[in-house]
Amino acid sequence: MSQAANISVEKVKQSRISQTDFSNLEFGAVYSDHMLVSDYSDHAWNNTRIIPFQPIMMSPASSVLHYGQTIFEGMKAYRAKNGDILIFRMDAHIARLNKSCERLCIPPLDENIFMDGIHQLVQLEQDWIPNEKGCSLYLRPFVFATDEFIGVKPSSSYKFITFACPVAGYYKGTVKVIIETEYVRAAEGGIGYAKAGGNYAASLLPAKKATDKGYQQILWTDSKEHKYFEESGTMNVMFVIGDTLVTPPLSSSILAGITRDSILTIAREWGVKVEERRVSVEEVVEAHKKGLLKDAFGTGTAATITHIAAINYEGEDMVLPPAESRELSNKLNDHILGLKYGDIEDTHGWIYRIKK
Ligand SMILES: Cc1ncc(COP(=O)(O)O)c(C=O)c1O
Repeated sequence: MSQAANISVEKVKQSRISQTDFSNLEFGAVYSDHMLVSDYSDHAWNNTRIIPFQPIMMSPASSVLHYGQTIFEGMKAYRAKNGDILIFRMDAHIARLNKSCERLCIPPLDENIFMDGIHQLVQLEQDWIPNEKGCSLYLRPFVFATDEFIGVKPSSSYKFITFACPVAGYYKGTVKVIIETEYVRAAEGGIGYAKAGGNYAASLLPAKKATDKGYQQILWTDSKEHKYFEESGTMNVMFVIGDTLVTPPLSSSILAGITRDSILTIAREWGVKVEERRVSVEEVVEAHKKGLLKDAFGTGTAATITHIAAINYEGEDMVLPPAESRELSNKLNDHILGLKYGDIEDTHGWIYRIKK
């Protein structure tokens, strides 16, 4: 049984909030005053504390710098109309964090440290949550190995940190994507289903090449044949083919998106035909030719739904209908945002509420 977390708090002498331009927030570049920290040693998480946001000291021999034993999460706190602060599916985020930990041989986090610590951090930082619609406080929990040791083995010590960034919307508008047939993000049996730093490092070069060609995201395909879709950039991917919402099934190479699960749950409740199955490039190309490819979009915490304007395959762009005309995905996006901001009743127990 886990204990209620005992968390000490050291507040900043002077908040930086008055020097922050909330009308011009670059995603991930502005940090609130405090951060949550906990240390793992002697087989236990200890010394959980909230302290001023600050650099961390580490040895050049820290194993994480060499062997990448690190995982993270990304979730958001939203301000409801009545002033309460709402965190969307916090329990699903800790479950996924611990799944990522398991894959990378990192000891699981105590649920209370996560829940109580983040609760207290967000309460303390509530003035950092922008009021405008679409804005939120992005929370970045992460765990990394801290042993000073050169040699490939699991670390015996770790640090858990969560810091917070006030953010506006992530993507502006639609994205053009390119189907990747050379590189892979993750392979079967690898760490693709974990939110591990290494997966993102692997995506940088192909993503740069795509950007150089004028495409903002990659449509990843499977590592064996490059025949089946996996994800889109750092989002899960969904298609509407005819009247069916289709998405690749979860596997060891796909991150189990919390937005993905929320959208599938709601769509099924609405009676939409939903299929979680392998989707081939060929099927999508054929559906586009026949006028049956009604929609394609990415799903993720950062932007909820990001519409895909065009999909490039072997040098040709398949252009999709205008984003405004895509009824189902726009309705799903509005519904999920309505839940996140507390405008729509939460019938799933998805909202973690912090009273103002
Ligand atoms: C690789 C990848 N896939 C999918 C997602 C979407 O996951 P979620 O909806 O939980 O944000 C993310 C973002 O977290 C991601 O990094």
